[in-house]
Amino acid sequence: MLGRLNHVALAVPDLAAAVAAYRNTLGAEVTEPQALPEHGVTVVFVNVGNAKIELLEPLGEGSPIAAFLAKNPSGGMHHLCYEVDDILAARDQLKGAGARVLGDGDPKIGAHGKPVLFLHPKDFFGTLIELEQS
Ligand code: CO
Repeated sequence: MLGRLNHVALAVPDLAAAVAAYRNTLGAEVTEPQALPEHGVTVVFVNVGNAKIELLEPLGEGSPIAAFLAKNPSGGMHHLCYEVDDILAARDQLKGAGARVLGDGDPKIGAHGKPVLFLHPKDFFGTLIELEQS
């Protein structure tokens, strides 16, 4: 079921500062900020060749990363995103195995314009997992 690692996501308190650090200090290629109100975040992607780093800043009230940043004020690793060929088949297989899918269980359109789902971190060793249809 599990395909390639698509990205590692870092929650950051200040996206402009994080972009400057990746672009200027680390010399990386960084995309322009993209607001995703449905997900409560503004996002950029850092291209590191074999995968991407997603930098997330809270957007609006009740952002799903607000609590994470309250616990990790300087930022931290928020989730891993793996690609799957068929997100509905993957969801059904995971639910059948007892894994918890977050939200209403229906895929939402993610930052790449493709359907995504999130899996409960307590079912995967403390790590939030995003699945993205490849
Ligand atoms: Co992500």
